Amino acid sequence: MNELRSIITRRRTRKPAGFSGAPDPSLVRELIDVARRAPNHHLTEPARFYLLDSVKIQEVGKLFGETVSGVGSDPALVEKGERKADEWGNAPGLLIVTCHTDKKSNLIKNKPATIEEDYATTSCICQNLLLLFESEGIASKWSTGAVWEHPKFAETIDLFSPETERVVALLFYGYSETDLTERTYAPLENHLRDFTA
Ligand SMILES: Cc1cc2nc3c(=O)[nH]c(=O)nc-3n(C[C@H](O)[C@H](O)[C@H](O)COP(=O)(O)O)c2cc1C
Repeated sequence: MNELRSIITRRRTRKPAGFSGAPDPSLVRELIDVARRAPNHHLTEPARFYLLDSVKIQEVGKLFGETVSGVGSDPALVEKGERKADEWGNAPGLLIVTCHTDKKSNLIKNKPATIEEDYATTSCICQNLLLLFESEGIASKWSTGAVWEHPKFAETIDLFSPETERVVALLFYGYSETDLTERTYAPLENHLRDFTA
């Protein structure tokens, strides 16, 4: 099979708890720079990247634990929060990707569809990253655990522009020995109108 097809086909989400170590940050920086090359209407370059070290990963994990625990009145949530803080905090690699769109800009006033187009571009970049990780033998997981709801999130990762950024993905990554099962999909015919057939 052609290499790109093979990478797309074999990539699966894997649990950070099974990751054993992270690649060198310089490799991840290179992959980010490649992944940025995605289609982008109006060339807005909306994606912002936060490449965390182990200290920041622990801090973000703690914030997520607190977000899940809430006010602390539900023991089940407190227990889940502790589990999540541990799972996230001990992940070997975490790259946070946000989408920057200034809703007060003239571009958005004139072309409001840009809000969704920017999000689409950022999502393409995230998938590029997952595929690039896979191509390097690095496992990954895209999470949208709502850690950004924590009041200290923006300052913890020093968001470029807290008012105009939203988190698109928390990309956990690391080396993994976990075996992958194949994922099943609905028959293509159910989702495709093929006028060439
Ligand atoms: C936008 C997005 C958000 C996701 N958020 C989560 C998440 O918060 N927690 C989680 O366990 N998996 C999350 N996932 C991973 C999906 O659950 C996973 O992709 C799906 O189960 C299909 O498995 P596969 O990636 O192995 O094909 C997310 C995936 C996407 C694309």
